[in-house]
Amino acid sequence: MTEPAYDLLIRGGRVATVSDVFEADVAISGESIVAIGRGLSGARREIDARGKLVLPGGVDSHCHIEQLSAAGIMNADTFESATVSAAFGGTTSVISFAAQHVGMKLPQVLEDYHALAKKGAVIDYAFHMIIADPTKETLETDLPALIKQGHGSIKIFMTYDRLKIDDEPLLDILLAARDGGAMLCAHAENHGIISWMVKRLLARGYTHPKYHAISHARVSEAEAFTRLIGMAALIDQPIMIFHVSTAEGAKVIRDARGQGLKVFAETCPQYLFLTADDLDKPGAEGAKWMCSPPPRRAADQEALWQALALGDLQTISSDHAPYRYDETGKLRAGPNPSFKQVANGLPGLEVRLPLLFDSMVSKGRLGVEKFVDLTSTAPAKIYNLHPRKGSIAVGADADIAIWDPVREVTLSDDMMHDLAGYTPFAGRKLRGWPVTVLSRGRVIVNDGKRSVEAGSGRFLARSGGEAAKPTGRLVSDMDPEQNFGARLL
Ligand code: URP
Ligand code: ZN
Ligand code: ZN
Repeated sequence: MTEPAYDLLIRGGRVATVSDVFEADVAISGESIVAIGRGLSGARREIDARGKLVLPGGVDSHCHIEQLSAAGIMNADTFESATVSAAFGGTTSVISFAAQHVGMKLPQVLEDYHALAKKGAVIDYAFHMIIADPTKETLETDLPALIKQGHGSIKIFMTYDRLKIDDEPLLDILLAARDGGAMLCAHAENHGIISWMVKRLLARGYTHPKYHAISHARVSEAEAFTRLIGMAALIDQPIMIFHVSTAEGAKVIRDARGQGLKVFAETCPQYLFLTADDLDKPGAEGAKWMCSPPPRRAADQEALWQALALGDLQTISSDHAPYRYDETGKLRAGPNPSFKQVANGLPGLEVRLPLLFDSMVSKGRLGVEKFVDLTSTAPAKIYNLHPRKGSIAVGADADIAIWDPVREVTLSDDMMHDLAGYTPFAGRKLRGWPVTVLSRGRVIVNDGKRSVEAGSGRFLARSGGEAAKPTGRLVSDMDPEQNFGARLL
């Protein structure tokens, strides 16, 4: 008897990539895709995918897992619960954060997050390094060594009292990122505007969660984007702007890209499907919908869809930041907190792809190829995980989500696998669901059942890669004629 040629064959599905949708069998041996074609045979096991879509597993490049918030509150999830919920939603790689707070040494921070992920993660993972304390030791010794160890991206906050980085240290961090070849990601909002608004709102007794949205005045986003882009251009450092929420913010990014600057940007489902009105609920209930920046208006949703269509925004992440609606999370300050006392963030790892599939594929907004790009291929490329992740291709890891495009599911709190205890999207009826999910050739979820051990996810070491490379043109006004730009860097 001859040995089977393959370990597993996904037979007869419609495979989608960023450019094509075609009927094919996908053959897997070990952890990788080894053949794509018609009429393949000779596998130990087969999955019948007729009538289904065979898509690369999602890459969620912005999620907070087992992380201390700006105010020192621990996320509701462990790496196990968060990555299990990701898997149930069709996501097979995450980039979460290793978050330095002031006074912490970055290598210790990385060691701690590595230990948590190694113990719990069921899918593959990487880390963005959050820098909140840019000491000389952090920037000159620790950061270069950690980038070399495979942490090819850095994140900074321009707001939050305990994490924010002011302009001058931000230039130091941009330069350190450039020297190390790492991507610089940013939560960009103007801290002064928000803090001024918060104080005035609270002083006048406006404490309800809905005033959170008002405190993050729209201009705080566009202003911070403009300032950050200016600083990045001065140094010629590529940047990724996180969670774009406004039409004005998207326009700032479009203009910068039009000038040839290496500015990447993402948005998240909360800015495409929620509005500030969602925070306007009786009592403190609106706290469940509180994130930063806040959901905005219907017109912003349209502007963001347009920016996605045009390529101004390249990825859609979840910004999963789960806090329970109880005294351990959102209500830590009591049953009637002021909006300033509520932890910012929403759970979203599990519902990111189903919400977008329903909108983009089932309802036809932008289509399945663009869905694959925004949720898997583009983040894999930008963060240098491609071609191993983010594509159905020979040689890629067999990270695959098999979608039933006609299955209808109504989202509810109790069907979620994370530990937040609620989903801000409960009650939405979606068409299309990931029924079988594979990570490196292993079926990890099938028909609502988990079949994967905690700790079986692997760390994905990566350099900054192509996206993080400077353009080589100092487009700033650092006096290019005398080449002072180069002399100062
Ligand atoms: O509200 C949010 N997004 N919380 C998580 C931390 C952040 O701002 O990214
Ligand atoms: Zn943020
Ligand atoms: Zn975030």
